[in-house]
Amino acid sequence: MSLAERHKKLERNVTLLGVGVLVTVAIGGLVEIAPLFWIDNTIEEVEGMRPYSPLEQAGRDIYIREGCYVCHSQMIRPFRDEVERYGHYSLAAESMYDHPFQWGSKRTGPDLARVGGRYSDEWHVQHLTNPQAVVPESVMPQYGFLANTDLAIGDPEATLKALTRVGVPYSDDDIAKATQDILAQANPNLDPGDLAERYPKAQIRDFDGNPDRLTEMDALIAYLQMLGTLVDVNSAAAQEDLAKEKGR
Ligand code: HEC
Repeated sequence: MSLAERHKKLERNVTLLGVGVLVTVAIGGLVEIAPLFWIDNTIEEVEGMRPYSPLEQAGRDIYIREGCYVCHSQMIRPFRDEVERYGHYSLAAESMYDHPFQWGSKRTGPDLARVGGRYSDEWHVQHLTNPQAVVPESVMPQYGFLANTDLAIGDPEATLKALTRVGVPYSDDDIAKATQDILAQANPNLDPGDLAERYPKAQIRDFDGNPDRLTEMDALIAYLQMLGTLVDVNSAAAQEDLAKEKGR
């Protein structure tokens, strides 16, 4: 029987055809899904990425509490218009410690994935307090109350511990020193100890212009000023490409 004849048989028998379709589609599914069970991590690790310091993490919690993500994404797509406006496209590894992640396409305001270091702390204080004073047509709400609200430190050890449960690699030392770290990062009068070694590139200073108080504004600006600054993206992107080439 020629191949065409055999195929005719398949085409005329709906059950056989159904089984054939199932097998063919299953191959595609297996190729896509099966490897996920054997590889440890679906994200290439890149140099520089580290868990957030307790103060940055507290700022991140405020960012989420205040719904900043409703208007801002943290995901620069690899399109020319985005890259020219916001900087190098986001790498998967840059959000590997985000729980929850801040990807999205809802951009009432600009993407913030690389906003760290773009403006001064004073700019952020002014802008968050009264966005319309900086950009008159801005629809961003005013968050001045953050500067008058003491940061409720709570139990940062528990926060870090909870994050380790979902795979963020905080060490026992990081967890033990969480309260000390959160206080020291925004207060130049306190001894930061080995904070900068455990959290490379952590910015240690008063952020809100009021060194006597640790406010929610301090935490939020510490978080914003860190965004996109941890990874040397150009060399990391090159690393990722290289790894992909090797895997091919
Ligand atoms: C209702 C939508 C909305 C919300 C909610 C919002 N923003 Fe914005 N944001 C904007 C818009 C629009 C702009 C652009 C105009 C401006 O600079 O004010 C902006 C600009 C910014 C910028 C400057 C970005 C740049 O590259 O110039 C930062 C930083 C920022 N927002 C942070 C925040 C933070 C932090 C929060 C939460 C506390 C927040 N935004 C909440 C709409 C919003």
